[in-house]
Amino acid sequence: MELFIDTADVNEIREAAEMGVIDGVTTNPSLIAKSGRKFTDVLKEIVKITDGPVSAEVISVDSVGMIKEAGELVKIGENIVIKIPMIEEGLKAVKALTEREIKTNVTLVFSPLQALLAAKAGATYVSPFVGRLDDIAHDGLEIVDDIVTIYDNYGYMTKVLVASIRNPIHLLQSARMGADVATVPMKVIKQLTKHPLTERGLEKFLEDWKNVPQ
Ligand code: E4P
Repeated sequence: MELFIDTADVNEIREAAEMGVIDGVTTNPSLIAKSGRKFTDVLKEIVKITDGPVSAEVISVDSVGMIKEAGELVKIGENIVIKIPMIEEGLKAVKALTEREIKTNVTLVFSPLQALLAAKAGATYVSPFVGRLDDIAHDGLEIVDDIVTIYDNYGYMTKVLVASIRNPIHLLQSARMGADVATVPMKVIKQLTKHPLTERGLEKFLEDWKNVPQ
C-alpha cells in the first residue's frame, strides 16, 4: 500500500520524508489556506522534497477553467496530479486531461457510484472521504470496500486513494480492503509509530544497559 501525507505544511512533509514512510502528498484548498502561503510557492517547495505524486486542487468549477488551471499547475513539476472535484464539469475535465496524459485525482467522493463514474472518465486516482462520512453517521469505510470491489470486478485501473483519514483504524481497514493508497495527516503517521509495549520495552533495554560493564 502506498502512503501519502495529507498536508500543505512543508516541515511536516520533510519530516515524514526523512522517516522514509511517504510515497506522495495530497493538498486541498483548506490545507493551503492553513499554511498561510501562496499556493504556487508551497507546491514548488513540495516537489523539491518528493518525487512522488503531489495532488494540487483546482478551484474552477467549469471544465474549461479546470483544464486551464491544470495546464499551469503541471508546469510546477512533472509529479503534480490535478485534483478535480466530483461534479459533472469535473468529469469532463478528467476526460480531457487524461487524453493529454495529465494525471488526475477525483476528490470529494462520497459514494461508490461517483467512484465508478470517475474511473470511467479515466481518473488516475479516486479519493473517497471516509472521515467526513463517519462525521454524518455513515460508514465511510464501507464505500472503500465497495469501490475496491467494483474496480476489481471490471478491471478499472483507477487507484483507490482513501482520504479524510482521522485515525489508525481507518488506515488498517483500508489496507485490509486492498485500497491502493491512503493519505494520512502527520498526527496519524505519528500515532502509527507508537505502541506502549515498544516504549516500555525500550525503557527496560536502556535501563538494563546501565548494568553492562563499559
Ligand atoms: C485529501 O485528499 C483530502 O482533501 C483530505 O483527506 C480531507 O480530509 P478532511 O476531511 O480531514 O478535511
